[in-house]
Amino acid sequence: TEPLRIGIAGLGTVGVGVLRIAQKRAALLAARTRREIVVTAVSARDSSRDRGVDISAYDWEDDPVVLARRDDVDVFVELMGGPDGPAKAATEAALDAGKDVVTANKAMLAIHGQALAQRAESQGRVIRYEAAVAGGIPVIKALTEGLAGNEITRVMGVMNGTCNYILTRMESADLPYDIVLQEARDLGYLEADPQLDVGGIDAAHKLALLSAIAFGSRPDYAGISVEGIERIMIDDIRAAADMGFRIKLLGVARRTDRGLEQRVQPCLVPAESPLGQLEGGTNMVVIEGDSVEQIVLQGPGAGMGPTASAVMGDICDLARGSRVATFGQAAQSLEAVPSAKNGVP
Ligand code: NDP
Ligand code: HSE
Repeated sequence: TEPLRIGIAGLGTVGVGVLRIAQKRAALLAARTRREIVVTAVSARDSSRDRGVDISAYDWEDDPVVLARRDDVDVFVELMGGPDGPAKAATEAALDAGKDVVTANKAMLAIHGQALAQRAESQGRVIRYEAAVAGGIPVIKALTEGLAGNEITRVMGVMNGTCNYILTRMESADLPYDIVLQEARDLGYLEADPQLDVGGIDAAHKLALLSAIAFGSRPDYAGISVEGIERIMIDDIRAAADMGFRIKLLGVARRTDRGLEQRVQPCLVPAESPLGQLEGGTNMVVIEGDSVEQIVLQGPGAGMGPTASAVMGDICDLARGSRVATFGQAAQSLEAVPSAKNGVP
């Protein structure tokens, strides 16, 4: 079998993590997929920077769009980020050139996922994005493969580790929001635009993807009612604890008789429940289906190793010839439940 040739655009936290796995685990990956996985070319903004990983064996491309179209790239791996700009342009270029795409870019997919999936479909290609939802937790594979025999009734969970860190740290150290927010900033947890985390937007991007997969619908980011954690005070957390609850920023999606209800908002959860016991920057996704009843998946939602683990899982699937796709032409357009828009639970 011919090797699967990979081009990677974006050599930041996740891109470097993917290169590390590709280099360190080449033999294991080849044994598991029965196909060699070879990185042929890479792209980032600064070609002179030492990234802590050897990139001398790869061709360098300044322009990710050029990388995406290269003849010696079978799979374009987009790890630059951002909903538009070079990430979207290069993804479109890759699909149009007949490449499969792997990305971790939840912001791009939550907004453009349906159009990109249809573009992929029209070319007989697929977009894989396990890392975009809950980082290292293989929740998309759980939904599309292991739980394929279920009608999913509800998906919910903690999908932004930074917010869970802030809320649990406020409680354990009895510190106000502003102090803990600064701690999170100092620890490098916050996105470049912190509003993506604390405003609930990042969690909403992930929920849009998760609910589309769960319910066979188009990602409907605009239909999500979003409230972040900025207004949570230490007194709220203390009062919840007195009653046996903890406050969690939850993303919840369920299909109702009136349409698709999707919310991201701070919720009270019983302290003894799995969600109530979730500490620090961890993620947890709870999936309910008519046959399986309920499963709980927990793990790291971010970071170099966990996120690269999910990206490499997608690459391995493509090496094995998997064509599992989500969204696309067959995806339904579900009505958003009107009350969801004004935050009524
Ligand atoms: P970083 O900011 O660490 O890295 C971004 C990379 O993209 C950098 O190497 C940068 O180049 C490169 N880049 C940016 N613009 C361009 C451009 N115009 N042309 C070429 N290269 C460009 O991001 P992360 O690795 O953290 O995130 C990557 C993606 O993964 C994002 O979509 C993010 O949302 C997603 N993700 C990240 C997680 C995490 O834990 N970090 C978890 C889950 C998803 P240079 O280095 O030269 O500046
Ligand atoms: N800012 C995100 C989080 C990163 O805290 O969960 C992973 O998507």
